[in-house]
Amino acid sequence: MVTFEHVTKKYKGGTEAVRDLNLTIEKGQFVVLIGPSGCGKTTTLKMVNRLIEPTSGEIYFQGQKTSALNLVEMRRNIGYVIQNIGLLPHLTVAANIALVPELKGWPRKKREERVDELLSMVGMEPSIYRNRYPAQLSGGQQQRIGVLRALAADPELILMDEPFGALDPLTREQLQLEFKRLKERLKKTIIFVTHDMNEALLLGDRIIVMKDGVVVQDDTPEGILRHPANEFVASFVGRAAKPQAASDLLVRDVMNPAPITIEAKRGLGEALKRMQKYKVDSLLVVSDGVLRGLVQARDLYPHLIRDERLPVEEVATPPPVTVTADMPLSQAAVHLTAHGHNLVAVVSPEGRLEGVVTRASLVGVLVDSLNTSGDGGAQLSAGGGGQ
Ligand SMILES: Nc1ncnc2c1ncn2[C@@H]1O[C@H](COP(=O)(O)OP(=O)(O)OP(=O)(O)O)[C@@H](O)[C@H]1O
Ligand SMILES: [Mg+2]
Repeated sequence: MVTFEHVTKKYKGGTEAVRDLNLTIEKGQFVVLIGPSGCGKTTTLKMVNRLIEPTSGEIYFQGQKTSALNLVEMRRNIGYVIQNIGLLPHLTVAANIALVPELKGWPRKKREERVDELLSMVGMEPSIYRNRYPAQLSGGQQQRIGVLRALAADPELILMDEPFGALDPLTREQLQLEFKRLKERLKKTIIFVTHDMNEALLLGDRIIVMKDGVVVQDDTPEGILRHPANEFVASFVGRAAKPQAASDLLVRDVMNPAPITIEAKRGLGEALKRMQKYKVDSLLVVSDGVLRGLVQARDLYPHLIRDERLPVEEVATPPPVTVTADMPLSQAAVHLTAHGHNLVAVVSPEGRLEGVVTRASLVGVLVDSLNTSGDGGAQLSAGGGGQ
């Protein structure tokens, strides 16, 4: 699908961002490019759709030299998600998603059907969201639209540059899991850039670790975990890992102690502002520190139009599953999987909110335990695939 042959990029001023890169990416592969800031990930990605021209070497897309392809046409066949979303603020959600289909001349009805189909795919009710503007969405919702836009015209290849990088950890984990399910359905060729090893291990079929413009390891997630090529890769994996075995961990070891909350009496308008400010889709509702429930962006909108001062407690749903901080993590994991929630809330015996544990943080812990025990392959696939 994509081949790099002796590709080098030297910027003016002498930085050699990519050095003699040789890679072949097969159709249907989900390839993650990972490495520290400045190692050449974005440069590599942008050379594929020629937003950046290589200094030397050749890149092939579906067997043809990209340097010989029609630039405009090629870009329409390659979906691209840039960091920080990049939605057009003056266009509605529907128009943003349908950008490439429109350029390709799809008839209106086909475009509208495609927009509704895509919105439904990520759980955003089309009748509510299609006519909104990006500023009227939470950060996580904007990010979903950015991904849908890249999928809209069903491109052969999708390039994603840290698509979840700008989000808070909780929303980020939710989107990672959602995206993992999505990618399994889509079976697309995807080149995905990140510098988060947990994200790479969760999503990638193949992980390419870069440093200073060269590839230091090109392997499966299991290969990277079990046989890091050198100290550099080991330290990168090590940072994703925590030292303890999963079986010894308690909820307090992995919980996020500062979830985003809102007081029960506050208005819906304020809830929306908080979601936007912290780029989250849901808020835990508290009163005087005691957990009262959960409010999600999708519960908010139908009421928001009528009365933005309506207290959030009126539309909140009952608290998600709760656990205590001293509970073994394995027990909390059972709650998460049994109830199909993305998070469990951690409360004190008096009901005070102390934190949250998300599904994705559990996946991270299971990956870590594989890394430390060396024989937890089954756990990895249970954690990664069971979402
Ligand atoms: N337009 C440019 N002109 C000169 N140097 C550049 C230019 N763009 C990038 N570089 C340099 O090339 C190197 C690789 O940059 P690149 O953007 O590919 O890194 P990256 O791996 O995507 O990093 P990050 O994780 O921070 O996004 C860096 O040293 C950077 O400073
Ligand atoms: Mg970059």
